[in-house]
Amino acid sequence: MTSLRIGIIGCGGIGRTHRNAWVAAGYTPVALCDTTPGAAAALVGDSGAQAYEDVGTFLAAAQLDIVSICTPPSTHCVLAVQALDANVHVLVEKPMAPSVAECNTMIAAADRAHRLLSVGLCHRFQPHMQAMKQAMQDGLIGTPMMFRNRFAGVMPDVHQRWFSDPALAGGGVIMDTCVHSVDLFRFFFGDVRRVQASATTRATDLGPALRVEDSAILTLTSLDGVLGVIEASWRTAPGVWTVTVYGTTGALTMDYDTKLLVHQHADGVSTILPVSDEDRFTAEVRHFAACVRGDAELLVTAIDGRQATAILVAAMADAKST
Ligand SMILES: NC(=O)c1ccc[n+]([C@@H]2O[C@H](COP(=O)([O-])OP(=O)(O)OC[C@H]3O[C@@H](n4cnc5c(N)ncnc54)[C@H](O)[C@@H]3O)[C@@H](O)[C@H]2O)c1
Repeated sequence: MTSLRIGIIGCGGIGRTHRNAWVAAGYTPVALCDTTPGAAAALVGDSGAQAYEDVGTFLAAAQLDIVSICTPPSTHCVLAVQALDANVHVLVEKPMAPSVAECNTMIAAADRAHRLLSVGLCHRFQPHMQAMKQAMQDGLIGTPMMFRNRFAGVMPDVHQRWFSDPALAGGGVIMDTCVHSVDLFRFFFGDVRRVQASATTRATDLGPALRVEDSAILTLTSLDGVLGVIEASWRTAPGVWTVTVYGTTGALTMDYDTKLLVHQHADGVSTILPVSDEDRFTAEVRHFAACVRGDAELLVTAIDGRQATAILVAAMADAKST
């Protein structure tokens, strides 16, 4: 296989990010599809790609090796199965799907087609997260004990976007944002044996109460007892995007704004660990292409995607019960 034919379904915000990432990785997508009239054509620009507004026509005509699925979560299962049935390898955006049953349907389709299925849990490709995991494996902070993560900011007009429509999004900030957090926790510490959550939405100066939660706190316990606290919100300022792991002899903190990975030693002294930055989306698609070529093993499997969804579904149920 000399060159790979790449397509994208969904040409909104993250569809544009995938297009740019594929180009940066050395693969210019050949076909783009979006059911909103004109959306695919607008993203095509002067790239020479073909624009489609019907997914069936796109899959039949474009002769793709790989498709990035960049549409709202409720569409992921149907579109992924359609692409897999057409023998196309699938990189589907997060969350894999809003329910475990849909994830299972997608996994069965991939197995049937003998095609790869991965999920856009892109923070595993953030070089600082890989460096943080390596530092823990190297014993830099002793025994990891606690994980603390805040992914929160203001999403403008969220009450008018599909993100707050439960039928399209499958949930609120838990399904949308905590999916990255629970996946990072699993990336570092493995499977989760307990999840608890509190969640809220209220009318504020930013807009009316939503039909889904806009802010949430999750606590996780790993199989071997690492504790995690996750905070997420669409309606708090300023934006804070940090991950910290505390161990018995020190801590590691990554701030996505400064892009610094800081090692806090037990004596209070801090040092910055050198990390060469690369756009995580570019790293993600480059890796997926390598996997399709048979040169690498998936860093994010469909099982990882399903496990994340299972944790989120449990968190949402817990939040509703209290
Ligand atoms: N990895 C990340 O950090 C990250 C960041 C943002 C969004 N996302 C995810 O990406 C997905 C899309 O989010 P977005 O912000 O790009 O949304 P968006 O609203 O900007 O774009 C979605 C596009 O999909 C199109 N679409 C909807 N249903 C379709 C269908 N059935 N077939 C073809 N096109 C269809 C819409 O017309 C729209 O153009 C979501 O799953 C979201 O959670 C991931």
